[in-house]
Amino acid sequence: MKLMKIAALASHGGSNLQSIIDAAQGGAIPVEITLVISNNSSSKALERARKAEISALHISSHTHPEPGADDAAMLEALKQSGAELVVLAGYMKKIGPQVLEAYRGRILNIHPALLPRHGGPGMYGIHPHEAALAAGDSESGPTVHLVDEHYDQGPILAQRPVPIEPGDTPETLQQRVLAQEHLLYPEVIGAIARGEIDLTPYR
Ligand code: GRF
Repeated sequence: MKLMKIAALASHGGSNLQSIIDAAQGGAIPVEITLVISNNSSSKALERARKAEISALHISSHTHPEPGADDAAMLEALKQSGAELVVLAGYMKKIGPQVLEAYRGRILNIHPALLPRHGGPGMYGIHPHEAALAAGDSESGPTVHLVDEHYDQGPILAQRPVPIEPGDTPETLQQRVLAQEHLLYPEVIGAIARGEIDLTPYR
């Protein structure tokens, strides 16, 4: 089967990135990760990419200080890599307008709550889990969605409910949701690569 070329963007630890690398390199999904980009030169994500022998680039407003230059550099690198799909795995920056336009309907994100609950600006790290507990929700879980101009608002492709248990803290909930992220994200990417999820209506 032809491998779908994908690029991944990550800012920090990249445990989701690792689950995608493992699924791709282990042959579980018909995907080749051709590029990893981070805005953080010391991110573990870049380390994971290099260890897996994937091209790894640091692109940020530090490497490209002119307005819009980081966006342009990212678009150029994505095109060069042949990426057909871009996956955000804990990428903390907003995608620039040039990349968004060129890859509209082909940029995925994973969010650690059941959107539209507990998404939007500020809902990163431990915060969505704090919010789910504070709201008294009976379940949470990851959402995979397409990226548009607004944080966490693009069309939802998949969700995986996780029960909230008595005695949960934001940290225990985060761990339980993260474990499901590591399963759900490669599954959705694999389904796109196999043509089981068709993204053409979103372009
Ligand atoms: C995950 O919780 C993901 O849902 C969110 O950012 C976090 C990234 O974690 N978008 P990691 O870097 O993949 O470990």
